[in-house]
Amino acid sequence: MTETAPALAGVVGWPISHSLSPRLHGHWLTRYGIAGHYIPIGLRPQDFETGFRALPKLGFRGVNLTIPYKEAVLAMATSVSDRASLIGAANTIVFREGGGVVADNTDAYGFLESVRQAQPGWSAKGAGAALILGAGGASRAIVHALLADGIGEVRLANRTRQRSNILKDQFGARMSVVDWNLAADAIEGAGIIVNTTALGMPGKPELTLPLDTAAPGTLVVDIVYGPTATGFLREAARHGLPTIDGLGMLLHQAVPGFESWFGQRPEVDAALRRAVLA
Ligand code: ATR
Repeated sequence: MTETAPALAGVVGWPISHSLSPRLHGHWLTRYGIAGHYIPIGLRPQDFETGFRALPKLGFRGVNLTIPYKEAVLAMATSVSDRASLIGAANTIVFREGGGVVADNTDAYGFLESVRQAQPGWSAKGAGAALILGAGGASRAIVHALLADGIGEVRLANRTRQRSNILKDQFGARMSVVDWNLAADAIEGAGIIVNTTALGMPGKPELTLPLDTAAPGTLVVDIVYGPTATGFLREAARHGLPTIDGLGMLLHQAVPGFESWFGQRPEVDAALRRAVLA
């Protein structure tokens, strides 16, 4: 009797129970009739290295990484994609035969794909400037995405100004730092405004940024997702501005990993959105 190992992938983090990734990949596995499994793997910090290194031996073809391991995993990779090394974090790992550990970051890709799905033909090149609120890990991925897609200027506003300065120093000439309290003054000329802060998440206050000076058509994106729109997106809609929530980015960033592990490029559609939000 010949035995073939089942196709295994998963998401590694701590805590892990909040992760929507198992539901997301589970929906695709069922939809495409793939005999594989996508498993949430909770590893405490003291067990991360040993646990992670055991995964290929257990039959895992790869994993996603979530909080708090997106940066730490880079030290365990045998190769790191350019975008992961620029962003300074990886969310997608492929284990290769012979021990290779390939680290990639698909968040920037996920962001751009989600914008393009909502606004077909959209390009950062045509957006002029971008106003980005926040300077954490998600901000780094989005700044990289916009610069790589040809944005003219990125204006960065963060509560802690020093974190904005670090991004400016790294990402260079097309970046400018804006005072958090004066962010509204940076709206003029921005074709896209993105909230990457934790404001608007459950238990956090809403982001309050007056949008009166936003030109018609200014795209307003919030990477926070949930069954209901954030106060920031509701405010944008009240001004008649096109809005995009964060669920699309979450769904699209998962596509390259699923394709690498299970050999099928999956589709992001309304059924997937419903399944993940259910
Ligand atoms: P992530 O990797 O998800 O982006 P993070 O690195 O913790 O998460 O960053 C969270 C972002 O939300 C930061 O920009 C943070 O601002 P600080 O750098 O000043 O901490 C921002 N943030 C969180 N709570 C906030 C609040 N109450 N007001 C303004 N910004 C807030």
